Amino acid sequence: MAFFTSATESIPVNTAVPQHIAVIMDGNGRWAKKRFLPRVAGHKRGMDAVLELVKTCVSLNIGYLTLFAFSSENWRRPADEVSFLMSLFIQGLKREVKKLHENNIKLILIGDRTRFNAELIAQIELSEKLTAHNTGLTLSIAANYGGRWDILQAVNKLHMASPELAGAYQEEHLTPHLAMHYAPEPDLFIRTGGESRISNFLLWQLAYTELYFTDTLWPDFDEEALHLALTSYQKRERRFGRTGEQLSPANT
Ligand code: FPP
Repeated sequence: MAFFTSATESIPVNTAVPQHIAVIMDGNGRWAKKRFLPRVAGHKRGMDAVLELVKTCVSLNIGYLTLFAFSSENWRRPADEVSFLMSLFIQGLKREVKKLHENNIKLILIGDRTRFNAELIAQIELSEKLTAHNTGLTLSIAANYGGRWDILQAVNKLHMASPELAGAYQEEHLTPHLAMHYAPEPDLFIRTGGESRISNFLLWQLAYTELYFTDTLWPDFDEEALHLALTSYQKRERRFGRTGEQLSPANT
């Protein structure tokens, strides 16, 4: 299967439903605060919203869903919140992996997993192995991920693999070494929680992605909220650097 990359010459078909959606799930803490609950209650409800979104993506036949669960910068949070998030990930994986597998979902973790505890690493490896041959939705969880980290680790891998090309590297040399080498670039990026930033998410891969920002807090992001994002996406004209006229069927 040939995937579109920014180096690709042809314009991809603009399907009504995006093939790949990437999400920054922001606003769990504020959702909890509004209800006089501890921040971790927001993360718990955030996990429910994740499961609902996965279900909806499966029913819409979306190929790839990528969720930013924990950034390289999130280690700066209070220690008890970090350890709650880690156990939420472990428990969530343990509880849901069978269901993911039954629904033909392939689970992949992207990010630097070396900093996670042994139990989480083992659970991630187990979940990836169990679902490795599934052919439905590919669910990528970005954890201890940063876009700059991704580009740098890809450059380092490329340099190790092809030192003879140093000084003449092309995009197509680098992309196989990026964390999401197995996926097309996201068509639609969604960030909840009211901030309009990319926050070091998929910096390379978002070059031509349609960006959608909403004030909805992550735990409230339900099927209806996704449909609003999809409606906005469907109204966009994706030009990939060309003029609007060049995109009309007579000129392609
Ligand atoms: C951002 O909200 C959310 C996070 C840093 C954690 C996201 C984690 C989940 C939704 C739990 C489950 C996820 C998976 C896929 C295992 P925030 O805490 O920054 O909210 P705030 O901006 O309102 O403080």
